[in-house]
Amino acid sequence: MCGIVGYLGDKNTVDVLVSGLKRLEYRGYDSSGIAVFENKEFTVLKAQGKLVHLEDKIKKHKPIGKIGIAHTRWATHGVPSEKNAHPHKVDGVCLVHNGIIENYSELKQELLRDGAKFLSDTDSEVVAHLIARELKKTPHLRQAIHKVLTRIEGAYAILAVWDQQPGTMVAFKNGPPLIIGVGQKEMFVGSDVQAMLQYTKSMVYLEDQEVAEMSSEGAQFYNLQGDPIQKSATHIEWSSSQADKMGFKHYMLKEIFEQPKAVASVLEQYIDHQNLSVKFSDIDVAPMKSNDTKTLSVDDLKKMERIFIIACGTSYYASMYAEYLIERLAGVPVEVDVASEFRYREPVIPKNSLVMVISQSGETADTLAVLRMAKEKGAMTLSLTNTKGSTIDRESHGHLYMHAGVEVGVASTKAFISTLTVVNLFAILLGRLRETISTTDEKNYVQNLLALPSQMEAVLSYDKFFAKASGVFKAYRGFLYLGRGINYPIAMEGALKLKELAYMHAEGYAAGEMKHGPLALIDSSILVLVICPKDSHYEKTLSNLQEAKARGGVIVSIGTGEDKNLKEMSKEYLSLPKSDWMASGILSVIPVQLLAYHVANVMGYDVDQPRNLAKSVTVE
Ligand code: G6P
Repeated sequence: MCGIVGYLGDKNTVDVLVSGLKRLEYRGYDSSGIAVFENKEFTVLKAQGKLVHLEDKIKKHKPIGKIGIAHTRWATHGVPSEKNAHPHKVDGVCLVHNGIIENYSELKQELLRDGAKFLSDTDSEVVAHLIARELKKTPHLRQAIHKVLTRIEGAYAILAVWDQQPGTMVAFKNGPPLIIGVGQKEMFVGSDVQAMLQYTKSMVYLEDQEVAEMSSEGAQFYNLQGDPIQKSATHIEWSSSQADKMGFKHYMLKEIFEQPKAVASVLEQYIDHQNLSVKFSDIDVAPMKSNDTKTLSVDDLKKMERIFIIACGTSYYASMYAEYLIERLAGVPVEVDVASEFRYREPVIPKNSLVMVISQSGETADTLAVLRMAKEKGAMTLSLTNTKGSTIDRESHGHLYMHAGVEVGVASTKAFISTLTVVNLFAILLGRLRETISTTDEKNYVQNLLALPSQMEAVLSYDKFFAKASGVFKAYRGFLYLGRGINYPIAMEGALKLKELAYMHAEGYAAGEMKHGPLALIDSSILVLVICPKDSHYEKTLSNLQEAKARGGVIVSIGTGEDKNLKEMSKEYLSLPKSDWMASGILSVIPVQLLAYHVANVMGYDVDQPRNLAKSVTVE
């Protein structure tokens, strides 16, 4: 979950590294550092806290060189501090690391017995010592690294340089992502493509247990044993401008406003406009690179008897939403779980099951582990990611994409809404394939979904309301988000957004469960946000709302069109455009996102980088 950047070439190395770090700050931001080769050795600068502190040091020291590595950290071993920041330097070897070295403690004991002196409390420094020790016997950076690779266990992506071989960078990984950007007589390395996109679109994805040795002549790739292997570059379509703030105060707000476009991209991709039907050619598309020759086919989907949908965080709530859609439209039993539970509970995955994993980044460690476990158990797998070429995408049998474009805000917004849209379409497809819905049903559903982007733009006008109301909302002691059916996961997502951004206590609850506990929480210091569109749950949710109101709860409700009932009962009523039940779930996400954003903003919190969190969690 840390971010790694590397560069060698004729550009201003420090500028390339810092711009890469800025784009990777979402992966961790408790400290950062760079190492640049100048005057026969690597100059290392590090700073605790946000990247601006490192930039201050850079302005003072002005390092200049043609090769350098950099890192932004999310602490695992060793508190956030300058000494624990990367790069770690030992006898001229500098390295940056993302992940965890599981056997670091025993390796450290061994190195201490050998007389090694440690400057940090990190597991990463152990690897720098191992390489430095090996270089004394094998004075060749890559060859020394191959020896060290037989000693370290765990999940890691590492980039190393050595002052005795100053034209070379060596990258290796097992678990977290590491991507090599290829330029003209220059090479880039990044934890994701965004770190390099402004310089090159030609990327090589390093696989686990592969080593890349880079110089201005290009990159050579090797397997674990040190035998050369061939790898080819992929052309990335994203433009780097997709990752800029475009005048919004925060990436998150920009991304909230980009949601109509994100949904339109999904619809464009997966709808046949002529026939008003769903087309999912991606499912048949072979993975960009996989050792697995199986691909998920339409026939497999017809035969499936059970679907497991597994994910983490916001993607998990999207999975809950998918359960409602798929069971209702396609009549297939669906089981949903969080990846960190599913992978350790010895799940039973019967024959003819499909295991679907949802992950914006395509790199979340627990979700990836579930994918691999499912494959080992013989299940067919389908991934839904936002990142083509990510590990989860590459390793699954079938592939769906969120088509949301780059998402920088740590709290996911547009990727969530895109996911819900893809899931809607996937449920329609399954319904058609399994003949649980008619062609007319399909046309109606598709027609309603096509109206979504413009309806979403209308809902975005609530931005002004929340900007104003946030000053009042922030004073509440707690928030309860209620919904039924597909709006239950939306309530959960709304509560999560408020927790992660505004650090306030919030709970998402199935409205019908209120009387089994949470009702006891309610008094006038609790804001109850109810999602109550005019769907089949309307009357029941209304009664739950009455129960909350009768106990002094302050109600903010989200409903459909003019709704006298809701208006009467609520302190504030937010009206959504009329839509069918399926599309209404997507519309009701926007107000809960705006609420969390504006409350956090008015409280002065760092909306794009909430404390203690990271966007891509590549460790367990
Ligand atoms: C982190 C992020 C969340 C995200 C979750 C799952 O916790 O902060 O926003 O929902 O990871 O990420 P994924 O990339 O697998 O969807």
